[in-house]
Amino acid sequence: MHRQLFVTTALPYANGNFHIGHIMEYIQADIWVRYQRMRGHAVDFVCADDTHGAPIMIAAEKAGKTPQQFVADIAAGRKPYLDGFHISFDNWHSTDAPENHELARQIYRDLRDLPAAQGGSLIERKTIEQFFDPEKNMFLPDRFIKGECPKCHAKDQYGDNCENCGAVYAPTDLINPYSALSGATPELKSSEHFFFKLSDPRCVEFLEKWTQDGKLQPEVANKIKEWFTIRTNPDGSKSEGLGDWDISRDAPYFGIEIPDAPGKYFYVWLDAPIGYLASIKNLLTQRGLDYAHYMANPRLEQYHFIGKDIVTFHTLFWPAILHFSGRKTPNNVFVHGFLTVNNGEKMSKSRGTGLDPLKYLSLGMNPEWLRYYLAAKLSARNEDIDFNADDFMARVNSDLIGKFVNIASRAAGFLTKRFDGKLTTEFGAMGAVILADIRTESDAIADLYNTREFGKATREIMLLADKVNAYVDQHKPWDLAKDPANNVALHQVCSVLVNAFAVLTRYLAPILPSLAQSVQRFIGLPMDQWDVDTDVVAIQPYQHLMARVTPEQLDALFGVIEVVAPVEPAKAAPKNAAKPAAPAVAVDPNAPGGEALAPTIGIDDFVKIDLRIAAILNCEAVDGSTKLLRLTLDAGEKDEAGQPRSRNVFSGIASAYKPEELVGKLTVLVANLAPRKMKFGVSEGMVLAASHGDEKASPGIYILNPWPGAHPGMRIH
Ligand code: 2FM
Ligand code: ZN
Repeated sequence: MHRQLFVTTALPYANGNFHIGHIMEYIQADIWVRYQRMRGHAVDFVCADDTHGAPIMIAAEKAGKTPQQFVADIAAGRKPYLDGFHISFDNWHSTDAPENHELARQIYRDLRDLPAAQGGSLIERKTIEQFFDPEKNMFLPDRFIKGECPKCHAKDQYGDNCENCGAVYAPTDLINPYSALSGATPELKSSEHFFFKLSDPRCVEFLEKWTQDGKLQPEVANKIKEWFTIRTNPDGSKSEGLGDWDISRDAPYFGIEIPDAPGKYFYVWLDAPIGYLASIKNLLTQRGLDYAHYMANPRLEQYHFIGKDIVTFHTLFWPAILHFSGRKTPNNVFVHGFLTVNNGEKMSKSRGTGLDPLKYLSLGMNPEWLRYYLAAKLSARNEDIDFNADDFMARVNSDLIGKFVNIASRAAGFLTKRFDGKLTTEFGAMGAVILADIRTESDAIADLYNTREFGKATREIMLLADKVNAYVDQHKPWDLAKDPANNVALHQVCSVLVNAFAVLTRYLAPILPSLAQSVQRFIGLPMDQWDVDTDVVAIQPYQHLMARVTPEQLDALFGVIEVVAPVEPAKAAPKNAAKPAAPAVAVDPNAPGGEALAPTIGIDDFVKIDLRIAAILNCEAVDGSTKLLRLTLDAGEKDEAGQPRSRNVFSGIASAYKPEELVGKLTVLVANLAPRKMKFGVSEGMVLAASHGDEKASPGIYILNPWPGAHPGMRIH
């Protein structure tokens, strides 16, 4: 039976670009969605910008824009990230769109006007006192009130908690409070607010069931259980049970006006999740379909992927307002932990430094490396995961490429050259067993995807790849190919390999959609369906599928090399000279030096590279880098005054040489490479060194050293 799924990720605030935490969540949800689509289920996967609230209103004012213009400008920057990481949303909408205004107002009316027979209204008005900025003429959100911490007396602390001692308090507890917007001393002023009666026994009874019926992750459900007995008030004191929820804010506020209450707006968190509904409604309208009809489908399943910091909103307020306004509640809420980078700090929403997703893409790093790496780390649990650069390189290069991608390249050449690209279905006894072993794992792997155990799924798939590689090592196609008498065996082995590769590609397709498409062209079978039984009958010539990640790329990503425009663009600088990393190449054990030859170039291309003999005048370690050495080079050049000119070049050879070993030696310099600004200074060129494509199998870096007699400045032709 095909499922009908409505899936969302949390709506990002429209006050900044995506950081890696957003991208992780989108990748997690996207893998799940793509898996469901491969199974033939209908999935609508939507998101939107979360546009409302005081912080966005204030940021817009600072930027000299209307809030509408401000959020539109942010929205315009979303596409490169989403396309770049292959996130397959069906719609991207906005909480400021008309659908959301209408839905939010209607849901509110439904809650307000609940008939007495159903227990009466769940909306209540209460007058509360709040800080008001007399200069800005507005009530101040807690984050915009600062003052001295009442506990530790640290100055300039926020209105809700102290960053120095961690104390939690109400803004009114601050000593000498001031408005962070105007500097004025805030005044206490009373105002009528609207509350959703979460403490009403109807809500409590409903939520106790909804949160504890076994659908939520156990660790999430357990945490929520505590909130039914005790809660922490803004002033740090404790009260019993669920408290009512303040859903209104006074003008000026960028938000949705509350019906029949001029000057009162919904608090951003009331209308934000309603944005999920607005986005699906907008998508259905684009398709000419009816929203009410779609939502009324009893088979519709609704799922939200969110981070652990917004569980309260999604497991208490959201299901309660949906249920009591007579709407469908989510089938589940899938909670993930935070992402840390290189064991560092949490990727905070406001700062989000560490791994800049756009920089990752601009360095030419493959988005599917990140998709694979995150998949390998993700589980169904709400737990934090760490992005570790060395681990990333190992998993991508050794597992993804070394174990999986290389299977195809090991077999394809023989099939194309010897068998006209045709495969046999005679797999031999052992080949048939291997293929059967791989195919029978289909249900188990499917189940792991469905339960969001992506890490376990990748481990299972890699174990299967290990089996295939053991089969390769046993049958050694490269040896079989030496004697034409082995043709039948060679044909069998290579056909088994390509078939195994096809099945493994399908298993990985939710994670690697772009690679799967390339494989589809290569083997002529659709890779976007969970069909693991159809044999491959013929292949197209093999084309390189995926490059390896290089240490230089990771250095550049994490700022060891700061990528900026060339300092002094040299006349003959190649167009992309600012890119620090050489194009990555795939390890190919059969190729010379472990790397396939680069595409042929003409002499015209070669002469663009000006290689010169250079003498190493000085060499020293670089403080703060374990990889780099700083070389001072003489390439026979003179400055404008006719004085000898030396060059400063950084080179990633510290693992291979002690500085003193190099001083006084000659080497080869790429003399017309545009200068590059790095964290440690400007690098004016590059020295040449040799290494094996598979540095694990064959470690070592060897700097070039010319035959005696060459002298600095000579060009290499
Ligand atoms: O925490 C956040 O980034 C919110 N913008 C998430 C909103 S999710 C949904 F409710 F809209
Ligand atoms: Zn303090």
